[in-house]
Amino acid sequence: MRLIMIGPPGAGKGTQAERLAARMGMPHISTGDLFRIHLKASTELGRQAKRYVESGGLVPDALTEAMVWERLSQEDAREGYVLDGFPRNLAQAEEFQRRLEAARMGLDRAVYLRVAENELMRRLTGRWWCPECQATYQRTAASPGGACEACGVVLIQREDDRPATVRRRLRVYFEETAPLVGYYRDRGILLEIDGNAPVDAVARSIGERLAEDESR
Ligand code: AP5
Repeated sequence: MRLIMIGPPGAGKGTQAERLAARMGMPHISTGDLFRIHLKASTELGRQAKRYVESGGLVPDALTEAMVWERLSQEDAREGYVLDGFPRNLAQAEEFQRRLEAARMGLDRAVYLRVAENELMRRLTGRWWCPECQATYQRTAASPGGACEACGVVLIQREDDRPATVRRRLRVYFEETAPLVGYYRDRGILLEIDGNAPVDAVARSIGERLAEDESR
């Protein structure tokens, strides 16, 4: 099965993609995580992407697409994947569609997580992140930080989770990414989910809607 996750920053794409991928035995491929790995390793791609990622803008399509095609060509993505963070604008969606058609493949579903803006801001500014294993945690202003429960590394906040950068990411989302909702709705594969609920409830809704597909 080939799934993509769409939704604003903080909607829970990564959280839900991780669970779905584990449940379905497919890789979770996150363009944001891939960029952060390149940034940390200071690769040439990381150096080129750095200023866009840290300021909350989109990395140019050519760089992003080359990274995505390379990842999707790996063996573990042959039978399917949960792709989180790509495509991110109509140009990427159309190029992706062309590639899929050329390979005689189709996307099964675009899972769209709809979440209120004040909740997005709360989640992103309260997010702490493990730079080692990339696990994320929610913290409050009263008890920030701490150590990763999986590997003990000191948690940090993402550069792009500062309130001003979050506002820019939301602006970029509404201008560039939100049109994908209509794009995939028109193709008949959009699965719209209320992402405001707690993590387990959102995961249940996605699971139920995908199970309805299978029973058809
Ligand atoms: P990316 O990492 O993809 O950032 P994003 O889309 O802004 O998504 P986030 O990771 O912030 O949020 P999410 O929806 O995954 O939510 P999460 O599950 O983490 O991209 C970063 C940057 O890379 C971009 O700004 C851009 O520069 C570049 N980039 C990436 N892809 C690109 C592309 N295709 N083209 C060009 N540039 C690209 O959850 C957030 C927090 O909320 C967590 O703390 C989580 O624990 C919590 N949470 C999740 N769900 C719930 C819930 N239901 N209830 C309560 N808390 C919850």
